[in-house]
Amino acid sequence: MGCWPEFSRSAKLNGIGISEIIRIGTEARKLATSHDDVISLSAGEPDFSTPDNVKLAGINAILTNQTRYTALDGTAALKAAIRRKFQRENGLDYAENEISVGAGAKQVLFNILMATLDPGDEVIVPTPCWTTYLDMIRLAGGTATVVPCSEETGFRLSPEQLAATLTPRTRWLLLNSPSNPTGAVYRASHLAALGEVLRAVPRVGIISDDIYEHVLYDPAPFATMAATCPDLKPRVVTVNGVSKAYSMTGWRVGYAAAAPEVITAMAIVQSQSSSNPCSISQAAAIEALDGPQDAITSRRNAFRSRRDRIVTGLNTLPHVHCTMPDGAFYAFADMRALLARPELKRKGIIDDAALCRYFLHECHVAIVPGFCFGGPGYLRLSYAASDKMIDDALERMKTGVNRLLAV
Ligand SMILES: Cc1ncc(COP(=O)(O)O)c(C=O)c1O
Repeated sequence: MGCWPEFSRSAKLNGIGISEIIRIGTEARKLATSHDDVISLSAGEPDFSTPDNVKLAGINAILTNQTRYTALDGTAALKAAIRRKFQRENGLDYAENEISVGAGAKQVLFNILMATLDPGDEVIVPTPCWTTYLDMIRLAGGTATVVPCSEETGFRLSPEQLAATLTPRTRWLLLNSPSNPTGAVYRASHLAALGEVLRAVPRVGIISDDIYEHVLYDPAPFATMAATCPDLKPRVVTVNGVSKAYSMTGWRVGYAAAAPEVITAMAIVQSQSSSNPCSISQAAAIEALDGPQDAITSRRNAFRSRRDRIVTGLNTLPHVHCTMPDGAFYAFADMRALLARPELKRKGIIDDAALCRYFLHECHVAIVPGFCFGGPGYLRLSYAASDKMIDDALERMKTGVNRLLAV
């Protein structure tokens, strides 16, 4: 059915589309309908199932009729479990009115930006980053100030870069550690150095996206800004959720801890958009946070061995280089030397997007191009996949690359 001729999108959507990652996933699924050998290394979600105790808590919530509207930004019981989590894992004390729950960390981040940004307000975003940040900032009426962080500096924002980027219009610094897509981790020393700069600019808040907290291989303990710089805690919004830690991406529960004024403003946005997150998912999230935590460790160990496998394999591909990430479940491979080869240019493979299209259509391996994250010339490979899938994908990529290099 066609649309009526006068239809037009709002100007708010200019330049904003469906995320490239979702688009590639959809293209891979479409290809898989006619080819049963498609391997997708594009998804940003664990391939494990939600733990059984958590599933049962969800089933129990249905059977006990926990199926009505709940408190707007989370039930008191879930907020209590979240407060216990912050206390137990991060040494952070929050009151109930300092917690907000939404339908995933994504909605929580959107609420923060919608509730706080006015036209002209700037958000500093180190890149490569999860590109959703940039589109969300734009939708919320703000301006993203991207700061490219190179592999040489561990893909981390330096205090000098931060100091040079601050302006009178800066509202937030948005940090994500471990990072999607690079796996870079900010240790306490890195955060302390950034905190030193932020101390001098009291108007600037810090959004700390800790969603990959538990997918961490770095031997140093996980660090987050509110705990590392307690004097800055009133200015920090700590965002987290159950999606990645407990393999609960479909349940849609994310949360934030912040000063009550921020939480109240976020609640206004949520109240006029989606209202409470799913009542059943909230009950399951309580069990995830309060129940046995051993799955986190065993799954982290599985991810670590897959990381070693894929990074080692990528480094055997001609002209490809990949550093060992310290967290998350992505390898961020540098393809610039390969893309600079005249053999590829002659075949029309001129950038990371073209290379991904080649890998998808010729090798049946779905990968996300780095440009999507502000890292052109790189590819992001999710290793939330079985050893066999990883090995097969690497094998096919090797054959594909050799074919491209053949004259
Ligand atoms: C960096 C980052 N933050 C937040 C999210 C959102 O997680 P969710 O909305 O599933 O809680 C994602 C999901 O991919 C992510 O990669």
